[in-house]
Amino acid sequence: MRSLAITSLVLGIFSFFFGWIPVVGIALSGLGVLLGSIGLVLSIVRRRSEIGYLIVGISISAVALIVGVGTWFEYSVMTKKSETSLQDIQADTQEMNVERESHGVSQHCGLPRFKHHDASADSPQTQQRLRMVERQLRKRDITDCSVLDAMSRVPRHLFVPVPKRVFAYEDHPLSIGYDQTISQPYIVALMTQLAQPKPKFRALDIGTGCGYQAAVLAELVDKVYSIEIVPSLADEARGRLKTLGYNNVEVRCGDGYRGWPEHTPFDVIIVAAAPDHIPQPLIDQLAPGGRLVIPVGRDFQNLMVVEKKPDGSIQKRSVIPVRFVPMTGQAASKK
Ligand SMILES: C[S@@+](CC[C@H](N)C(=O)[O-])C[C@H]1O[C@@H](n2cnc3c(N)ncnc32)[C@H](O)[C@@H]1O
Repeated sequence: MRSLAITSLVLGIFSFFFGWIPVVGIALSGLGVLLGSIGLVLSIVRRRSEIGYLIVGISISAVALIVGVGTWFEYSVMTKKSETSLQDIQADTQEMNVERESHGVSQHCGLPRFKHHDASADSPQTQQRLRMVERQLRKRDITDCSVLDAMSRVPRHLFVPVPKRVFAYEDHPLSIGYDQTISQPYIVALMTQLAQPKPKFRALDIGTGCGYQAAVLAELVDKVYSIEIVPSLADEARGRLKTLGYNNVEVRCGDGYRGWPEHTPFDVIIVAAAPDHIPQPLIDQLAPGGRLVIPVGRDFQNLMVVEKKPDGSIQKRSVIPVRFVPMTGQAASKK
């Protein structure tokens, strides 16, 4: 009886952790409620004293079940609502372009051109990617068409380990091994939008990781220099970016705290690991008019934008609280 109670309790707790996978969350908590209820009936019939355990087990499983069903319901309703087919999105974006042109706005916000990869525009991953752009980016505050276009072109699933590919377009970061992560799609889009990349720009990307942010930047600027401190990640990202045809990205293994003095100045610098202060070399390597987007802080981090004005003066502003991996190397030793 006690083992039934404990199993029900463990299942309930597990389902909280895995509740974001709708079916798994519901299945675990449902099983928890079922086992707990069987245990409860048996303990009442046999007048055993484990009723307390069982009630706690059932309660946790039941709450998890309600949360799980709620999540699943919201997910399925949202999926149906925005079950936008490629044609719908095409029509939508064409309409937007006509509207934009009629207002004299020159930015392009059309369908992805799939220039590097995805042979089939109808592949499930392309559909997932376009839904990600619609639901996670456009419905939030990502309004820069060039960023939306770039995010709808880069095949994020090819940047994550094979077992994680099914989750590549979900609204959260993913582990890429070596204790590191690929950032949530929204954060990549937000940082890119804040950096205001332009086609003739030269960009510095610090914390290459799997190379996804570098690829997004590569769609938008002339040249990307990317630095990763973990040698295996740097090697893998270099190979991946090359295979995918991103010939305008150069990856090197090193400490991004010092920037890349040989290629200064940079119009855009994006940093994906948090130091507890803004590294001075990065400010020095910004071109006049350039922007540095960087998470800063230890336990509490803020996403900061540092702008170097044409006269060389520096303006800093904090955008939102964020949570990034800490910057290692010199940033970690300069305490
Ligand atoms: C959040 S991950 C980067 C995600 C990456 N932008 C992507 O698209 O996958 C942060 C990365 O920064 C790297 N990193 C941490 N400190 C660094 C440093 N001082 N110089 C360069 N890279 C660093 C980590 O090894 C890790 O790969």
